[in-house]
Amino acid sequence: MTARVLVAYATRNGSTAEIAQAVGRELEKNGAEVTVADMKTVGSLEGYSAVVIGGPLYMGSMDKPVRLFVAKFLAQLTEMPVAAFAVGIAPQDPKPEAVGSAMEALRKAIVPLSPVSSVLFAGKLDPAKVSFLMRRFMEMAKIPSGDFRNWDAIAAWADGLLEKMQI
Ligand SMILES: Cc1cc2nc3c(=O)[nH]c(=O)nc-3n(C[C@H](O)[C@H](O)[C@H](O)COP(=O)(O)O)c2cc1C
Repeated sequence: MTARVLVAYATRNGSTAEIAQAVGRELEKNGAEVTVADMKTVGSLEGYSAVVIGGPLYMGSMDKPVRLFVAKFLAQLTEMPVAAFAVGIAPQDPKPEAVGSAMEALRKAIVPLSPVSSVLFAGKLDPAKVSFLMRRFMEMAKIPSGDFRNWDAIAAWADGLLEKMQI
């Protein structure tokens, strides 16, 4: 039977949505039937064999819809394979603890789920979309702006997912 996978994403500025689409394309290449959807629009998990949850980090936490999505579908999500990805600027942050904190924020947002795989992808930070205060903060913390999405790393992660999900 064909695996049916939902890639449910949250996004504010679109970069996580594009990563979710790339994950979906890779899963399709591997033979899955894939739906990529903004998690706020998902009304049911009926018929899906697995779910990939993805969302951006904002101010140290995963974007709120991720937590709401997990709470809403917790009963079904605990019964199926789940994978999760976070998107953030943490991989470009010179502070060595940034990546660990980002992974911890992802874990907290999806608890009590135990994903078959979870990962942090570098995102996209457009200075034009950032407030003056945030820009000042970024300058002081030496956080660069730009599009840091690594499409090869994203495809490589997605490529291994169906096997990990055993579907
Ligand atoms: C106000 C603001 C706060 C952010 N906070 C974090 C953060 O705490 N950790 C992190 O890794 N990235 C942080 N980022 C970077 C975003 O996660 C990154 O730009 C991501 O690609 C945004 O995804 P989206 O385009 O799907 O909304 C922040 C960006 C902005 C503009």
